[in-house]
Amino acid sequence: MKRILLGSLMALATGALLPAAHAEELPVIRNRQLLVDGKPYLALGGELHNSSASNSEYMQPVWDKLKAMHVRTVVSTVSWEDFEPQEGRFDYTLIDAQIARARQHDMRLVLIWFGAFKNASSTYAPTWVRANPARFPRAVAKGQFAEAFTYPGAMPKPVLSVFSPELLNADRRAFAAFMKHLAQADPDHRVIMVQVNNETGMLHDSRDRSSLANAAWGQQVPASLLQYLNAHWQALRPELADLWARQGRRGSGTWAQVFGTDWQAEEVFMAWHFARYMEALAAEGKKALPLPMYVNGWLGPQDGQPVAGQYPSGGPAKRVLDVWKAAAPSLDMLSPDIYVPDAKVPLADYDHAGKPLFVPEAQFRTGNLFWALGQHGALGYSIFGIEDGKPDGQLAQAYAMLANMDDVITRAQAQKRIAGILIDDGKLTEIHLGGYTITVRETQVLLKQMLLDAGLQAPPVPAPLPSETEHGQPAPGDGRPFGLVIDEGNGSFLVMGRGFTVDFADRAGLVEIDRVEEGRFTEDGWKAGRVINGDERLTIIPMDRIGLVRIRLLRKAD
Ligand code: DGJ
Repeated sequence: MKRILLGSLMALATGALLPAAHAEELPVIRNRQLLVDGKPYLALGGELHNSSASNSEYMQPVWDKLKAMHVRTVVSTVSWEDFEPQEGRFDYTLIDAQIARARQHDMRLVLIWFGAFKNASSTYAPTWVRANPARFPRAVAKGQFAEAFTYPGAMPKPVLSVFSPELLNADRRAFAAFMKHLAQADPDHRVIMVQVNNETGMLHDSRDRSSLANAAWGQQVPASLLQYLNAHWQALRPELADLWARQGRRGSGTWAQVFGTDWQAEEVFMAWHFARYMEALAAEGKKALPLPMYVNGWLGPQDGQPVAGQYPSGGPAKRVLDVWKAAAPSLDMLSPDIYVPDAKVPLADYDHAGKPLFVPEAQFRTGNLFWALGQHGALGYSIFGIEDGKPDGQLAQAYAMLANMDDVITRAQAQKRIAGILIDDGKLTEIHLGGYTITVRETQVLLKQMLLDAGLQAPPVPAPLPSETEHGQPAPGDGRPFGLVIDEGNGSFLVMGRGFTVDFADRAGLVEIDRVEEGRFTEDGWKAGRVINGDERLTIIPMDRIGLVRIRLLRKAD
C-alpha cells in the first residue's frame, strides 16, 4: 500500500502516469522466466558503455536513439564512486535521472552495481576506499601473468583484496543503500534486475597472495561446498568433477588437501571467496528490495587465456560455475559476457544446473540472440555498447519484430515448442518439433546448387551486410542464416529469421504447404501481411532482411 501511495506521488512529481495496479508486482524469476508486471518478459536490449550513465546530459540523446532502435531494456550502471563520494553520504541523482528517462521512454533498466570489482580491478571504488590501503588492503599478485591486459609502462590499476572484511562491509552497506533507494524511488519497477559488481576475479595471478588471502588458503574447505559437490556430483561441470576427483573427492581438508596447489585449485578457492562476497551483497540488497540479481563472467579459459589469472581467476567462469552456485544462492543467474567467435559454446556452457540464462554483454551479432532464445530458453540478451548501433540496423529490425512476441516466445520456451537456427558452416540441419522433422538449409547455398545442377552459373557471393554500428568498432551485420521456429500446434509454425529455407516432413515423408502468411505481432496479436505463394515460395524466409511467417501445413484427410 505504501508503495502504491508513493507511486501516485511520484506520478504527480514526474508528470508521468504510473501503472498503479502493477506497483506491488516486483519483477521476479520463476521457472526460468522473468516476470515483469506479472507477465513473462524478454529482456532484449543492450548495455551502455561504461562511462555513459555518469552524465545525464550526455545520455539525453542516447535515450532517443535507443528508442529508435527498439531497445526496451537498457543495461546501465551505478558506480560506487559517484554514489558514495564520501563515506556514508549517498548521492541518488544519477539513479533518479535514469529511472525518470526510462519511464519517459517506456523502457526498463537493468542496473549494474560497479562496486569494489569491475573487470578484475577496483577503479570504481571511491577515493576514500582506494586511498586507505591500511583499512582496505590491496590484493597481492605474484605477477605470474604480469602481461595480462596491460602493457609495459602502463600505470597500475588498483585491485582490492576480496578477503578484506572492511571492504565487504563498505561495499555491502553502499549496495544496500542503493537497493533501499530503489525500493522507494522506483515504484513502477523500471529497474527489473540488478547486476552485482562486474566481471569479478583476479588477473595476473591465479590467487591473491596478500596475508589475508594466505590465511584463508590455509583454512579448511567449507563443509557446505563439499556437501554441495557431493549432492550434485552427477551434474557438476566436468572440469570441477575431475579436479575434485584427482585427490580422491575428499570430504574435508584444507584447500590444498582437497583440490591441490596448482592454478586450478587456486581458481576454485578464489571462486568461493568472490562468490561469498557477492552473495553477501545480494542477500543484503534483497532484504531492501528482492529484485532478480546476477553476476556476469569474463569467459575463461579461452583462446590466448588458457589459465586462470590470464582470465580473471575466481570469476564466474565455466570451470567454477558450480562453486558459485553453492556459495551464492541469492544470485538468480550466472551470466556469460560473450565476445568469442562461436557464441554457441558459452551459451551451452552457461545453460547449466537449471539456472536461467541471461546474456548481459555480447557483440553485435544478431544470430546469436536468436540461438540463445530458441535453443537455451534465454530470458534476455543484451548487446554491449548499444548506443553505437544504428536505428536501421539488423539488430534494431530484430528488436522491432520481437517487440510483441514475449508471450508467444516465452510460452514456447516453457513448453519446449521452440528451436533456434544458426548455420555457421553452410550445412543443413534438422529440427524435430511438433511431430515434424524440419530440414533447414542456407538459401544461398541451396540456390547455388540448384543453378549449378541446371548447368547455369552460380549466383554472385553476396556483399557483406552493412555495419551494425555508426560509432566505435565497425561490426558487419550477421550474414549467417539465423532465426526461430515455433510450433503452434496442428501443423502451424511460426518461422522467423533470415537466409534459410525450411522443408517439413512427418513420419510418412515430406508434406505440402497449405498456406503461408507473412506478418508480425502487434499489441493485439498476429497481423497478417502478404500471402506468400508462387515465386515467393522459393524464399519464404527472406535473405536481405529478417522475416516472420506463419506456415500452415496441409493435413490430408486420413
Ligand atoms: C567487458 C566488461 O564487463 C564491460 O564493462 C566492458 O568493459 C567491456 N568488456 C568492453 O569491451
